[in-house]
Amino acid sequence: MQFGFFDDAAREYVITTPDTPMPWLNYLGNSAFFSLLSHRAGGYCFHTDARLRRLTRFRYNDIPADSNGRYLFVNDGGDVWSPSFAPVGATLDSYECRHGLGYTRITGTRGGVEVATLFLVPLDDPAELHQVTVTNHSDAVKELTLFSYLEFCLWDALDDQTNYQRNLSLAEVEVEGSTIYHTTEYRERRNHLAFYSVNCPIAGFDTDRDTFVGRWRPLAQAEVPHSGAPRNSLVSGWYPIGSHAITLRLEPGESRDLVFILGYAENPPEAKFVAPGVVRKDPARALLARYQTVAQVDAAMAALRGYWDSLLDGFQLRSADPLLDRSVNTWNPYQCMTTFNLSRSASGFETGIGRGMGFRDSNQDLLGIVWMLPERSRQRILDLAATQFPDGSAYHQYQPLTKRGNHALGSGFNDDPLWLIVGVCHYLKETGDWSILDEQVPFDNDPALAKPLLDHLIASYQYVVTNLGPHGLPLIGRADWNDCLNLNCFSDLPGESFQTTANRGDGRVAESVFIAGLFCYALPDLIAVLRNRPAGAGTDELALAAELEQALAAMTAAVDVAGWDGGWFRRAWDAFGEPVGSAANAEGQLYIEPQGMCVMAGLGVSDGRARRALDAVEARLASEHGIALLAPAYTSYHLELGEISSYPPGYKENGGIFCHNNPWVIIAETIAGSPERAFDYYRRITPAYREAISEVHGQEPYVYSQMIAGPEAPRHGQAKNSWLTGTAAWAYHAVTSWLLGVRPGLDGLVICPRMPSSAGDYEVTRRYRGATYHIRVIGSGTSAAGRLTVDGQPVDGEVVPVAAPGEVIEVVWSALRSPKSSVSQE
Ligand code: BGC
Ligand code: NOJ
Repeated sequence: MQFGFFDDAAREYVITTPDTPMPWLNYLGNSAFFSLLSHRAGGYCFHTDARLRRLTRFRYNDIPADSNGRYLFVNDGGDVWSPSFAPVGATLDSYECRHGLGYTRITGTRGGVEVATLFLVPLDDPAELHQVTVTNHSDAVKELTLFSYLEFCLWDALDDQTNYQRNLSLAEVEVEGSTIYHTTEYRERRNHLAFYSVNCPIAGFDTDRDTFVGRWRPLAQAEVPHSGAPRNSLVSGWYPIGSHAITLRLEPGESRDLVFILGYAENPPEAKFVAPGVVRKDPARALLARYQTVAQVDAAMAALRGYWDSLLDGFQLRSADPLLDRSVNTWNPYQCMTTFNLSRSASGFETGIGRGMGFRDSNQDLLGIVWMLPERSRQRILDLAATQFPDGSAYHQYQPLTKRGNHALGSGFNDDPLWLIVGVCHYLKETGDWSILDEQVPFDNDPALAKPLLDHLIASYQYVVTNLGPHGLPLIGRADWNDCLNLNCFSDLPGESFQTTANRGDGRVAESVFIAGLFCYALPDLIAVLRNRPAGAGTDELALAAELEQALAAMTAAVDVAGWDGGWFRRAWDAFGEPVGSAANAEGQLYIEPQGMCVMAGLGVSDGRARRALDAVEARLASEHGIALLAPAYTSYHLELGEISSYPPGYKENGGIFCHNNPWVIIAETIAGSPERAFDYYRRITPAYREAISEVHGQEPYVYSQMIAGPEAPRHGQAKNSWLTGTAAWAYHAVTSWLLGVRPGLDGLVICPRMPSSAGDYEVTRRYRGATYHIRVIGSGTSAAGRLTVDGQPVDGEVVPVAAPGEVIEVVWSALRSPKSSVSQE
């Protein structure tokens, strides 16, 4: 069952009913100002930091869900309704929500009146624009009053949930013409404010929630819109809102446009006021002046479209499968942008309060974004590396406002350092920007401890090899990629953190096979980087490369001895020296992560173990909804394993389909020679292919979710935690680089198609280091070996050399023994 459809030409997902299984969100904003916007106009917006600079209030765990947003009440001769359905909930004659790239348009009709609202955040301004078009489709004159409504909350969002004794005495506003300035906390330590305005004269306003809504009434029945008259209330403490009242008289067939602006402005700290108690408004007024007309909003919208078109032009697929095309060309990269911008901080499942930019998360997010945003990726890498410690370990997260490491969480997640190598090597392959390695980057955010970025990568390597356990495998620390496998934290107190309450010995026994696999995956690239620097490798680099090769051989041997269980790769060794993820265990015998990662690293590929491990995955973990993280799921709590066993079987890391690591198996299957299976796994988790079962899946059919309930859960197939997940970048990497087989390399674009033959021939247009490559793939899946031509000339191997910026290169790959290879080639 579907609740909408894809409009591929418009690059929109069209939701046709307000009654979706869950709030279906879009994200607006590109770099500093972000909005979460549901199909019912719910959600909130913030500048840079969703906790400290949140403009509007979000209500957690609310009934019904998604109960606060930027709303309209239409009073049509006493009939009150909302065009986004919420908050009034009056039946609509028609409803449609179109989520597009950085904008959303919600249209509702009732009683012959259509109200369409285009929501967007312009490329370069910290504001939400709401362009409202009201049309009278009836044959009578309509006298309407429109009431806008949103709840301000520009103070600490955590405090907002916990410190009423303070917050309920803070609220202040100034109203000037059609603009409401929310100045709460401005008198003291803030020099920024929110404002809400409309581009026309108003009949009145309200800024006090209780006055607007009325005592003991739900928002749906708010007094002011039902009475039809604004009360010009000025908030003083309690709950500040912004509401404009606008009266409209529309002839039959007539339309009117209104532009609402919800903005954010900063003033110089020393010039916050123009007179005692009077807030400086010039920056806000300057922003307002930029969006007073429909033409100005149209221009902002055109700029936004142009921006997305030019980004997405960088990789466009034309295949026989429209679901694949829409995933690859539009929605997967779109989600990659969101995960890059927000890491795991603010979504329907992340509160925006607790989590900053994750070190491992943001490094992995680079896999989905460097091709689109090389400059911003460069800056992100430098920001991340600056939160590394001199010993190579790293703060697990940094705070978006200060870019400083989060002390409360600290370090000790022992996979973290290696993801920096993965992120930087990927950046180098995409951009060829070797200069980044020479950038001076602080350790521990201390400029006095700055070293070239390359030294940070070496520190990452050293951290792992100086922290090996009894089997020569890396110590796991607080956790590795799997935050919930906590082998050094024996927690039996409710409320205690599973990750940070390390209390088991000195942590020098429990080891991770996964980190070993990641080490073997990351190191070959770092070795290649050392050997291939354009300036030439000096003796230091060559000596280092040799050292790394030895370490790689030693780690490979350690995995062979202590990481192989007989039928698959083990997961870990616990603090008692017992194996985890082994046939010897009663539960949790087989884990997905080391199967994917070790095979991606090439371990066991030449001797058949990779195949056996992947066959075990297929037999024991794969389901129609994706591949479970482990099986059998833990049925009781294990003190020695931690959070993973705290979840009921089939949820989250305890045997849920944790989508993030499905692409590792997909890539592994392309490496181990099974493209059919790889593409089959891809389709099982990719939202466009799950759209038809939206009533089961539940979450948005245009973005990946972190988890789909696993085979052992009662709600098998139901997704949770959409949007902010490493699945976006890894799925993108798996499908573009490995299945379609067009991937960046240090010395050129690698063409190595591994799509199954059933998918047919396809074409890719790929921007790479400033040149454009038109790539035709003929007969993928019929043979792994292919013949490559570049501008008609045969090329040995699989690398298309780097072309000069601006050039357009024609590439043809055709399978060597393909039945279709008779297809003529230019
Ligand atoms: C979640 C993980 C998350 C961790 C740390 C766990 O509850 O399952 O996905 O990374 O908490 O916040
Ligand atoms: C979500 C976290 O953001 C990510 O860092 C982690 O790898 C996964 N959960 C698995 O626990």
